[in-house]
Amino acid sequence: MTDSNVNAPSLAEQLIRNNLKALKPYESARRLFKMSDSSEVETAWLNANENPYLPDIKINPALYNRYPDFQPEPLINAYAKYAKVTNQQVLATRGADEGIELLIRTFCETNDSVLICPPTYGMYAISSETNQANIIKVNALDDFQLNVDEVVKQINEVSNKVKIVFVCSPNNPTGQIIKRDDLIAVIEAAQGKAIVVADEAYIEFCLEASVIELINQYDNLVVLRTLSKAFGLAGLRCGFTLSNTDIIDALKKVIAPYPVPAPVAQIATNSLSNDGLVWMLDKVSQLNSLRDDFIEFAKTLSFVESVYPSQTNFVLLKLKQNMTSQQVMDTFSKQHILLRDQSKQVMLGSTVRVSIGNTEQMAQVQQIFSEVEQTL
Ligand SMILES: Cc1ncc(COP(=O)(O)O)c(C=O)c1O
Repeated sequence: MTDSNVNAPSLAEQLIRNNLKALKPYESARRLFKMSDSSEVETAWLNANENPYLPDIKINPALYNRYPDFQPEPLINAYAKYAKVTNQQVLATRGADEGIELLIRTFCETNDSVLICPPTYGMYAISSETNQANIIKVNALDDFQLNVDEVVKQINEVSNKVKIVFVCSPNNPTGQIIKRDDLIAVIEAAQGKAIVVADEAYIEFCLEASVIELINQYDNLVVLRTLSKAFGLAGLRCGFTLSNTDIIDALKKVIAPYPVPAPVAQIATNSLSNDGLVWMLDKVSQLNSLRDDFIEFAKTLSFVESVYPSQTNFVLLKLKQNMTSQQVMDTFSKQHILLRDQSKQVMLGSTVRVSIGNTEQMAQVQQIFSEVEQTL
């Protein structure tokens, strides 16, 4: 590079797709705070809705010199059995995030629309933007349930070209299950027009709320799942897209040639064994009870306006005017506990999301909140 072109746009800036120029990438919890930055002090990571417990991981010596199978059969069999679907209805992906991306890449042409219901998980919008799909936002109602009438209206508006509707249930970051009848109303309205994706990343914390059996009834329903939450394997990057074989086969045209690394397949399959499932269910019951305790505690805090009900491993708190979300974040980060500020999301001004940690971490969280209370 010569001095004269120091201020000229870089080659990347010249060549990058237009729609990506202004795009702000998703601020994942780990982009905001890296694990490698916290090596000297023990940090409580309560900002990414992970499981604080680590499953017992065994890796057999594998043929790492060989490419793995496209969809490793032991893994697909194990997940199909767990989810009570057929093998042909399962696609293993690199996290549920890859499922989101694949659905958009497979079904949306430029300027087709993706309908989302904020406040909700941020990657639906980011993946839509990176793939040049329009985003139609139908904000949730005050109780964070679906605005069914408006969603149906937007789907029916032909010029919108809605191809995919994302519904997160239970919803991140608000924590509640979407009413089954509302979801069914949207699926029925979208029949013959659009795919409805029920993102069940947190469903193990309220398994009875799953709509998985409806994939046999509705050909436009897709369910997303992950091992990142209840199964305690966020670092593994393994998720599942569940739907009828036509949709799964369409996604298989687009997915990478070897989407599931061999060690990932082994560990994931192990987590779905009988022992693995017993471990997961035990941790879910511990985390659910720690969550309920935390909710009861948080309701006693004078600076908390609302503690939203949660069927997940996180709790969203709305603060009163005498406390900002930044103050809470700062107070906790000084004590090496990371929470997640959700205040930038529509309808969520002055909110902080607390992922449920282990017993000691939750005791520390309560202690710090109590200290804050005493300073008021
Ligand atoms: C609602 C929701 N869907 C999907 C994901 C992505 O999960 P994965 O780790 O499997 O990519 C997350 C992660 O936080 C999430 O909250």
